[in-house]
Amino acid sequence: MGILKIVVLISGRGSNLKAIVSKCAKKNYPAKVIAIISNNSSASGLNLKGNFEKIVINNKLNKKKFEEDLHKNLKRLKPNLICLAGFMKILSPFIIKKWKNKIINVHPSLLPSFKGLNTHQRALNKGVKISGCSIHFVNESLDGGPIIAQAATTVHENISSKELSQKILKIEHKLYPAVVDLFVKKRISIKKNKVLIKNIKNINSFIKNI
Ligand code: GRF
Repeated sequence: MGILKIVVLISGRGSNLKAIVSKCAKKNYPAKVIAIISNNSSASGLNLKGNFEKIVINNKLNKKKFEEDLHKNLKRLKPNLICLAGFMKILSPFIIKKWKNKIINVHPSLLPSFKGLNTHQRALNKGVKISGCSIHFVNESLDGGPIIAQAATTVHENISSKELSQKILKIEHKLYPAVVDLFVKKRISIKKNKVLIKNIKNINSFIKNI
């Protein structure tokens, strides 16, 4: 079996990208990040060193042209998995259909709560007592695709939205590579819009162990 190819799409800092790259850098790991694609030429995540292609697609192109360019690159790279990691553009059904069940995303809330932007502040405004992150398949509904895994953390009174985002980011860095690993080991399937994970009887014990 060949090495599974991963492409990561970013728009900014790229700390999740780094966590995924580190996971795949392990000796004899059966997957590798072959390219980073960004819509932002000044994304600091593009400074990450490694043996992968770095591609910037002009953000000023209209959506159709941007996605045609993206699709052209993806067709050439032939990834088995596309990870959105702080990618700030909403993909249209054109790309989603072409890469069905191959695109996953990290969102910093316990979905289906707090989809979209400004997540942490909105969670704090509601006085949530726990929050966390979710990794999900990308489908046509924003942050609404089948949920693969989630991890939670307590939200203390008086925590700022910046502190909460840092707290959750730390668990994203564990959960995202763990989900990539499940995908690489072909343990993820989708049935009736729900994700099933092979050999995991209790998802909570999986989360505790990551
Ligand atoms: C993360 O909090 C992720 O959940 C959200 O955007 C942020 C990206 O951070 N979608 P980074 O670029 O991976 O550091």
